[in-house]
Amino acid sequence: MDQVKKGLEGVVALDTQISFIDGVQGILRYRGIEIEKLADLSYDAVSYLLIYGKIPDAGELKPFSMELIKERDVHPHLLDMLKFCDFEHEFLDALRTAISVCAHFDEDLNDISEQANVRKAIRLIARFPTLVAAFYRMANGLEVISPDPSLSHGANFLYMLRGALPTALEAQAMEKDFILSAEHELNPSTFALRITASTLSDMHSAVISGLCTLKGSLHGGAREGVMDMLDDIGSADNIAAYVQEHLEHKQRIMGFGHRVYKTYDPRARIYRDIAMQVATEKGKSHWFDLAREIESVMYHEMVENKHKPIYPNVDFYSGVLYKDLDIPSYMATSIFAIGRISGWIAHFMEQYADNRVIRPRAHFV
Ligand code: CMC
Repeated sequence: MDQVKKGLEGVVALDTQISFIDGVQGILRYRGIEIEKLADLSYDAVSYLLIYGKIPDAGELKPFSMELIKERDVHPHLLDMLKFCDFEHEFLDALRTAISVCAHFDEDLNDISEQANVRKAIRLIARFPTLVAAFYRMANGLEVISPDPSLSHGANFLYMLRGALPTALEAQAMEKDFILSAEHELNPSTFALRITASTLSDMHSAVISGLCTLKGSLHGGAREGVMDMLDDIGSADNIAAYVQEHLEHKQRIMGFGHRVYKTYDPRARIYRDIAMQVATEKGKSHWFDLAREIESVMYHEMVENKHKPIYPNVDFYSGVLYKDLDIPSYMATSIFAIGRISGWIAHFMEQYADNRVIRPRAHFV
């Protein structure tokens, strides 16, 4: 039997047309297009691109967006059923339960035809923000706000969260956040989802596999970890001690390092720019300045200890951005999921289109 590759490092498991990563040069493309170019589109357009393989023209985008807007509402009974959920901790647990409950009300649940899968996909993409915003309102004893059909995916999310319209820059930042989080080849949650899809299980079940896998602190949960770390460090004077102590005890600094990128994560650079813009608009640069300093200390610690530099990943400056958007850390992973859902859907469809059950071997010792 072949040698075991721990963590499947470097193992190529399947062909995909959805995204491409060059981890040495720091390149990420969705459907052949650089992430830097995609960050200026709308989340609806990027979702269309991921699912259908092309950037929509105006005649294609409008009906797609209309469908998404039409499906944003969630039934009040669903929210009533979710009141028992634990909102003290990361909302991802509630989101996982919500999708499981939604499955029971979806008339297409066990129809695995392509048309039914598209209908389910639209409903899932549209409802993730509504659910997460509703959890925030319920957790804080506030009235749940209905979606506003005149707003973009990102602006509407912030509106439902706060009950007030975001600034144009905040709305743009949220759109970018969803786009940058949307897709990343065979990351753990997407792989988990593809395994579920490969058994010809249904879309909701596959998405729940993705959600459960995203939760972990070595994956999507790192975003919450970054926000908590910023709070723990508090001020620039404490950075060196925090970093040195963690590295000495072989503990991870959240938001740094990546299995695939051996250089700066291209998404981190875009997040850094947008986080800086939001911090400047709000006149509060504390978290951004602290993050810049942590990045610098990490770099120098690594170089001084003759270790290869470990760069910020997607979760580092997104954590800073959320702090400046006044988003609490217990929402961070669920907001990551709001973006990631369209990439998951694309992978679900791709797996279905050319399926063979994913079933590797283990080496018995
Ligand atoms: N802090 C301190 N040391 C680190 C870190 C870090 N964040 N990341 C890697 N290292 C060190 C690690 O200790 C090891 O050192 P040595 O060679 O001396 O033993 C070396 O770098 C290689 O690490 P690895 O664990 O073999 O790398 P991996 O590919 O198995 O893990 C990772 C990748 C992302 C899980 C890891 O870098 C990590 O734990 N980072 C912190 C958590 C995090 O930010 N996760 C988000 C990942 S990116 C987006 C996502 O998937 O959600």
